[in-house]
Amino acid sequence: MESNKGIRRIAVLTSGGDAPGMNAVVRAVVRTACANNIEVLGINRGYSGLINNDFHKLGARSVDGLLQRGGTILYTARCMEMLTEEGVQRAANNCRYLGLDGLICCGGDGTYRGALALSRQGVPCVGIPGTIDNDIGCTEYTIGFDTATNTAIRCIDKLRDTMQSHERISVVEVMGRRAGHLALNVGCAVGAAAILVPEREADFEHDVVERIRAGRINQRNHHIIIVAEGYAMSTQEVADKVQAETGMDTRVTILGHIQRGGAPSAKDRIQATRMGYYAVHALMEGRGKCIVAMQRGEIVDIPIEEALEMKKPLDEAMYAAEQSISI
Ligand code: F6P
Repeated sequence: MESNKGIRRIAVLTSGGDAPGMNAVVRAVVRTACANNIEVLGINRGYSGLINNDFHKLGARSVDGLLQRGGTILYTARCMEMLTEEGVQRAANNCRYLGLDGLICCGGDGTYRGALALSRQGVPCVGIPGTIDNDIGCTEYTIGFDTATNTAIRCIDKLRDTMQSHERISVVEVMGRRAGHLALNVGCAVGAAAILVPEREADFEHDVVERIRAGRINQRNHHIIIVAEGYAMSTQEVADKVQAETGMDTRVTILGHIQRGGAPSAKDRIQATRMGYYAVHALMEGRGKCIVAMQRGEIVDIPIEEALEMKKPLDEAMYAAEQSISI
């Protein structure tokens, strides 16, 4: 990587839904900056802190202990003002007033839209993917996804014990907003009988009911069904329909925000460290309008406009493999 092209002071913020590993990103950014004689400001509550001048200085020692801590010490928010011209102007003016040579923003696609608006005002911005949804088109991986997947798995393993005892079906709702990546990965890792995601229009009879019936013929007395929160039917509707069609007792569990908490996994700590380090170097090398991404296992950066256009398809091969062996 190249040497520093005049970067003296930068800021870091976390925005959108929090994700395990965001703190590790803040640590990596601060430590990398300090090692290159760059001052760092931590902006509180995402873009709203930028608009309202809510920040504090961060040094190498102020990020001690952050690698293993869930949540984000910078707090996070979804800032509606950044969707307005006036909000963007205020944020950009504050960046100039604070003498920022760059801004690093960790979050999802809403966060990148804010970064794009600011970079168009002349503020160099680098985005880092941090969301449990893993729904960012330009990157194979988003920080927090692995921890959230593991958290969901641990919960569902416990549910399986009680479902087995009572010969019931557990219908579990997994987060993911409008995407099914988290649901698919969780479903694969728990051996779900059926996985319902927004990306696939399910034939309920074929994809759910017949699979439960086939399982019963094969002496399987309990099942797990995973429903992504963005799926067309509510999780309760799915459970009611399954019970009506199969005669088996169902129970609904909505995992909810528990999936966003907890200490980051090794994978999330490592990716946060790599991406945070990379983001500061991208600014130092003068690439201040990009998203840090993982492609084919390598860390790269993609121009923000291009990144926002990219879509992430569901992993159909994973879906097919899981479905063929889970009954
Ligand atoms: O984007 C992360 C996420 O956890 C989604 O999976 C979920 O739909 C949403 O945030 C929930 O947001 P909130 O914390 O505002 O309820």
